[in-house]
Formats: sequence, C-alpha cells, structure tokens
Amino acid sequence: MEALLIERTVAEPIQRQLYRQIAAMIRDKRLAPGSELPSTRALADDLGLARNTIVGAYDQLTTEGYLTSRPGARAIVVDLPANSPGSDRRSASASATAIRHPLSMRGESMMRQPFHHGAPGRFAFHPGMPDAQNFPFGVWGRLLARRATFGADMLFGTYHVTGLPALKEAIASYLVSARGVRCLPEQIVVTTGAQAAFDLLARLLLDPGDTVWLEEPGYYAARATFTVAGGNILPLTVDGDGWQMNPPEIAPRLIYVTPACQHPLGTTMRMDQRLRLFEIAERHNSWIVEDDFDGEYRFQGRPVPAIQSMDYAERVIYVGTFAKLLFPALRLGFMVLPPALCEGIPHALSTTGQFAPLVLQAALADFIDEGHMSRHLKRMRRIYAERRKLFQDLFAAELPANVTLSPAEAGIQLVAHLPADCDDRAVVEAADRLGVNASPLSKYYWSTSGNGLVLGYAACNKVQTEAGMRRLRQAIEQSRILY
Ligand SMILES: Cc1ncc(COP(=O)(O)O)c(C=O)c1O
Repeated sequence: MEALLIERTVAEPIQRQLYRQIAAMIRDKRLAPGSELPSTRALADDLGLARNTIVGAYDQLTTEGYLTSRPGARAIVVDLPANSPGSDRRSASASATAIRHPLSMRGESMMRQPFHHGAPGRFAFHPGMPDAQNFPFGVWGRLLARRATFGADMLFGTYHVTGLPALKEAIASYLVSARGVRCLPEQIVVTTGAQAAFDLLARLLLDPGDTVWLEEPGYYAARATFTVAGGNILPLTVDGDGWQMNPPEIAPRLIYVTPACQHPLGTTMRMDQRLRLFEIAERHNSWIVEDDFDGEYRFQGRPVPAIQSMDYAERVIYVGTFAKLLFPALRLGFMVLPPALCEGIPHALSTTGQFAPLVLQAALADFIDEGHMSRHLKRMRRIYAERRKLFQDLFAAELPANVTLSPAEAGIQLVAHLPADCDDRAVVEAADRLGVNASPLSKYYWSTSGNGLVLGYAACNKVQTEAGMRRLRQAIEQSRILY
C-alpha cells in the first residue's frame, strides 16, 4: 500500500484514485491474494485522508468483487484469475502472442472486402464525389434546424422504420417524373445510403451458393455485399459495345446492373440489351437490382428512364441514393420494392436496427418539396457539364496520346485507359503521393483484368482541374520509371 499515490491537484476524485490503484494492485497481484488490507482508520491516518473516503473506496472494491469483508474484520484481497480483464500482465501477453478471437466465416469475409471511401484532403479527382462548394448549406441548415427544434410524436419515436411518410411521398413523385419509375410511396424504403440497401437485399434475397450476375467492370462495393452473403459472383461483361448478355450457365438468382450510367464506364444500356435482360431474368426467375446512382447526370440528350419503368413482372428492385444529388455523408438512399416484398420489410428493418434518422429525412422532404433539390440539380448539371468539358480538353492536351478517355455519356466520373507499360495501381500510388485521388480500374474487375484510372471531375474547379491534370501526368511519368 506504500505505492499508493494520491494527487490532490487532478480532476479525478481522491476516492476514485484510491479505488483505481488498489484494484490494479489486486489484478496484477502486487497485493497478495488472501492478504488483509489495512483498516480504514489506519489507512486514513497514513494518507492524511478522511476515513469516509477510504470506506467509500473499499465499499466499491467489495461491490465489484476485488475484496471480501465481514463486519468488524479487515477487508481481504480476493484471488482473481490470472486473465482478469484489464490486468497489465494480460495485455502484455496479448500483444506478445497476438491472441486471435475467432470470427464467423461471414465476418472473415467482411473484413477482407475493399474499402471504398477514399481519404479527405486530396487535391482533385475523387471518383464519384459531388461538389461541396456549390451545395446550398444555408438553406439546408435552416431546414434541418427547423425540424430539429421540435420533434413531436412523428420525429421522436422510431415509428417509421421504412422511412418518413412525407419523404417517401416526395421521393415517389420525384422518381415518377424524373426517372420514369412506376411506384407508390408505400413501395419506397428509405435506407442509410445505397450500400445499406444492397446489404439488406443481399441478406433478404440470397442464400449461400446462389448465383449473382454482376457487371464486370462493376461496382466493387455492391460485389462485396453479395460476396459476403455467400453469393457465387459471375461476370456480366460490359465493354465498348455495352452489356454482353450471355447468361451464365447457372441460373442467376439476382442480377445487379447500373443501366442509366454504367459504373464505372458511364455508358447507357441500349433498348435491345434492356429487353434481353428482362428475357433472361424472366427465364430464370431472377431478381434484378437496378442501381440508379448517377442517372440524373447525363450530358447527351435527356436522362433515360430507369429500367424499372419497363418491369411488368415486378422483379426489379430500384435502388437510389442522395449521395450524388446532395452529398455522400448525408447517408440517405432508398429502394423501390416490388409489392410482394413490401409487407415483411418493416420487420426485416426492425431486425437490423439500421433505419435512417427521421430528422434528416424530414429536412430532406422539405428540401425536395420546396423545390431546392430540383434547383440544385439543375444548377449542378450546368456546372458539371462545364467541368467535364474542361476535364476532357485538359486531359487531351496534357496527357500522353496513349492514355485515352472512355466515351462516357453520363455520370460524374470518367475512366482513363492506360497503356500496357503503366500499371494502374502504381499510378494511383504515385498520384496519391502528389495529393491526387484516383481509383485503379483493375479494382472493378475480378475474373479478368483491366488497366486504367477512374477519375472524378465534379468536385474540382478550374484551378484544381488544371493543377490536378499536371500532377496526374507527373504520376504517370513517375510510375513508368518505377514500373
Ligand atoms: C455504383 C454506385 N452505387 C451507389 C453508390 C452510392 O452509395 P451510397 O448511397 O451508399 O453512398 C455509389 C457511390 O459512390 C456508386 O458508385
């Protein structure tokens, strides 16, 4: 007990200091098991403290099982097992031998999936990132504050696990007019982003071993959820001629596509390919997951309607997100379910506990109803069209002729193809060192290889695009030397 060190100038109360130090001494056996502690009076005298302070610390140690005590007798140190939590000896041995707690097979698989959120503070070209400078934060802040100050019944309890009715209505009328989707508000489920929708769908629709037919190159974050659910992922090849609809030999239970703006190539599914997709899904009784993440940003002609608009067999699940229309950290997305899936969905969501915050939903419903979203979208379409043109012009002027841009019609990112003497991962690493963000195209392939860069242009103003392009050229030159 001589080792006790009481500090009177720190914020931690003295009784708490005593408790903490004696507990540590008992855990790591500096106080021998079975030994008696000094009486509360003796220790109070030794330390110059009030007796009540010692009594309080001993009582807490007794309550937690560090000490045993009988009335009138001195407190006795309990013999704790060697691995008691928090023991210094245990943490030393844990770090030495790296104790591994077993994960489930699903857990192992989840922890191996690619991370796709990039890093903040990069100078330019974050793939798929919308522009933050032009977002109407003033309006958004006002709407959010208005909803946050008075919850009442509607925004206080978690009654609306599938989404706030006002937002579901706003989404449904937006989808009907802007994306040609055929739906009623009851079919909408608001999620914490498109990724949460994929995760839920993977769990609802797939059993381990089920075949998933997924675009290659394709969205690796969607692939991750289907892989983790035990899906057997087979490639639906997308190339310069679009979607190669050669159905896999094993019937797909689920087909994942990005028809309005192929991710990452930015191409649009032609009518013959759409019809063939429906024919295959019909033959195999497959679900179709339509990820319409970027369909609003189309730079040739008018936006093409979602394929859900052609779905008379009710097998398409339409997934959308506000990550591009507003901003990714909002974490609000949605799906439009075929009627057959609507009844049980509140129970499924209630099981996961992963439903979207209602205050955010209420502010978003106001943002849409008061016309701010359509104004913002209209403005951003114009800004992005200019930025895209600048990006394409500078790309052609600054980068070597054998680094070519894919002819995308839509989306806020572009794919650059690299020559064989350039490895995309090496370029991405070199670009990262220069503060430029890019994704290697090879990350979007799994059964075959790709070599290129996925580059976002939307969040970069003129200065950033010009400087970013120079740095990208440097990165390509550097990686060629290292390669
Ligand atoms: C193909 C695709 N789908 C969906 C999303 C949106 O995902 P979330 O709403 O989870 O941010 C993204 C985002 O980058 C995407 O690239």
